[in-house]
Amino acid sequence: MKLPQFLLDHWLAAHEFADPPIRYNLASSTGPQWTLGEVLALGGDTARHDLDALKLSYAPPQGGARLRERIAALHGVSADDVLVMTGASEALMALICHFAGEGGSLVLPQPCYPAVPVLARAWGLEVRQYVLDPSNGFSQTAELVLSAVDSGTRAVFVNSPHNPTGSVMPAAEQVKLAAALAVKGIPLIVDEVYHPLYFSGEVPTATSLDNTIVLGDFAKALSLPGLRIGWLIDRDRDRRAALIDARSYFTISGSPLTEAVGSLALEHAAAILGKLRQVATGNLALLTSFMAAHRDVLEFPPPAGGTTCFPRLRDGRDARPLCEALARAGVLVAPGDCFDAPAHMRIGFGAQREGYAEALRIFAEVLD
Ligand SMILES: Cc1ncc(COP(=O)(O)O)c(C=O)c1O
Repeated sequence: MKLPQFLLDHWLAAHEFADPPIRYNLASSTGPQWTLGEVLALGGDTARHDLDALKLSYAPPQGGARLRERIAALHGVSADDVLVMTGASEALMALICHFAGEGGSLVLPQPCYPAVPVLARAWGLEVRQYVLDPSNGFSQTAELVLSAVDSGTRAVFVNSPHNPTGSVMPAAEQVKLAAALAVKGIPLIVDEVYHPLYFSGEVPTATSLDNTIVLGDFAKALSLPGLRIGWLIDRDRDRRAALIDARSYFTISGSPLTEAVGSLALEHAAAILGKLRQVATGNLALLTSFMAAHRDVLEFPPPAGGTTCFPRLRDGRDARPLCEALARAGVLVAPGDCFDAPAHMRIGFGAQREGYAEALRIFAEVLD
């Protein structure tokens, strides 16, 4: 099996991990960076002492009890329903593997985090996509999602807040969608890695909806991608057992070291989410003014949540040459072709507060 090039990661790696790295990274989809020392300092001396005593053995395949309890508290569910995974990436892989099979299809948004359609096809699933339309703010409705469901559909995937568009499926639409799918016996997967970062009305976690599996992680709203920890929450006991087996086959378990740091981080989730909100709302205000000043060139559906938006060149031109010119000037945004939408670009606003105004000033210069 030969997988296609992961265009987004090639683009990010060429600039973000260059020496020296790009000056202003607006291509990132994560929150502000934390050092290990800063996270440990949240827990004081006890946290460092606990780490010294940690045994570097395997963790349980479903994740350690303390971490699962803290994730459960975050989502208001029982710890039994939580399975820890190696990033939301492994949660997605385990689910795709679980739902794969002759004649099956998976329903996904377009645009979509690129790994999902590629891996679904690699596992032999047909990919059926519902198209998020910039002219109505990339609106996510139950009706739109259901229009892509067919008789072979094994599961439906929704990402809210959505990467790359920042669109949010309202709670009432999520309820309607889960109920309609439950009648058909089709599970709903809600990827909530950007929950709870909303800018126009909070949306509750989808964990209470019928036959729904919720994904979360440390990488996005919780701003600690280096932990490589994600999770899924599923009330279906048999499916959970199958998903734990999938994890045992894929990666055996997580690391007790990163699980311990993750547990500590969740104890201080309010501080971590507070910092993210401050950076994201400050940058988004600047970005909104910038987009208003350039509305003749850029169409900008404002994000309702998450840390990215997905503006489009109004004349429909390929945005990659502009992204390349911006990168040469020291500002990184991600070309839309990485998401099969070449006239767009993904602009992040959650990772870096310092220098954001200067990055937009350079952006304006390059546009002119
Ligand atoms: C919407 C979405 N889901 C899942 C993932 C996977 O995240 P991770 O494996 O870092 O937890 C990503 C990564 O960018 C994403 O954007």
